[in-house]
Amino acid sequence: MSISKAASSKVTSPKSIEERLQIERLVPATEVVTSHAGTDVIQGLTQTPKTLPTRYLYDDRGSELFEQICELPEYYLTRTETKILQQYAGEIARITGPCELVELGSGSSTKTRILLEAYQQLGYPLLYVPIDVSAGILESSARQLLADYPDLKVNALAGTYELALAQMLPSPLPCRMIGFIGSTLGNLKPQESDIFLSQITNALEVGEYFLLGIDLQKPKYILEPAYNDSQGVTAAFNLNILEHLNQRFEGNFDPTQFEHWSFYNETENQIESYLRSLRSQSVELSALNLTVNFALGETIHTEISRKFDLNTIQKQLTARGLVPLNVWTDPNQWFGLLLCQRQA
Ligand code: TRP
Repeated sequence: MSISKAASSKVTSPKSIEERLQIERLVPATEVVTSHAGTDVIQGLTQTPKTLPTRYLYDDRGSELFEQICELPEYYLTRTETKILQQYAGEIARITGPCELVELGSGSSTKTRILLEAYQQLGYPLLYVPIDVSAGILESSARQLLADYPDLKVNALAGTYELALAQMLPSPLPCRMIGFIGSTLGNLKPQESDIFLSQITNALEVGEYFLLGIDLQKPKYILEPAYNDSQGVTAAFNLNILEHLNQRFEGNFDPTQFEHWSFYNETENQIESYLRSLRSQSVELSALNLTVNFALGETIHTEISRKFDLNTIQKQLTARGLVPLNVWTDPNQWFGLLLCQRQA
């Protein structure tokens, strides 16, 4: 083989997955934060009523179980949002132009493919920045995407949204769009949601985009089965938080001694999820030097899933400098997809 031939074949050969994949593990900037790991658990389990930080639901196993939830017949959210995306991804790509796609809580990135296809069809460069607390899911889904899209580059960030948004460098592409789909905004309390939206605003330059997917208010008889599925996947997902704590803090929670409980609070417009103790019991978390006593029927609050009103959320976004340009929904108006632009 001649040298020139070898050289030219090197130039034209597609780049390997390794060359196109970057995974950065984000760590808190200050030591103080690290040395306090677990204080949020101690705080949650020693207060009345007991509560746990939502993020402990999403270890590798939790993220896998959540992917299964998305496939459940009762869990209409994912299917409905996917259809809206399929219908409008082309329009989104035409509005934003070539764009770095940042996704918060990317999970398996299934819905992201719809957007990548749309940008690819318009001949735009593909740069995807998935952010997730589960490094395991992040790497495996990035590898699958890279195998399927030979021109794609992935710069994955493993860490919390706050860290990722705070440390985000300017996009190498003309524009950035931060995607926050799957109604994860609903898992933030109103006050957390306000802080979060300011962090989004700060991570965007004027003119850049925020794509938000939210579950809308609807009758209880549709909402409640989505969080109490007949196969018990949601129960396993919620109970897995206890296994996660066991692993992380040398605990001895027995998940068979707790049950999953979710209901729709119509006053607050939110699904509330709890774990309920099936007997009076005492649990140790050795690494935290913590003993927790449970009465029979006592609950641990694990998650809220707020359900939104389109007019109200649009006003809130506008107040944060994130102006909705387009609002798309499905024929039942079950789910909303909003493309917002950062204003000065
Ligand atoms: N973001 C999802 C939602 O609120 C998370 C979720 C689905 C969830 N099912 C759950 C959280 C059950 C706790 C319990 O829809």
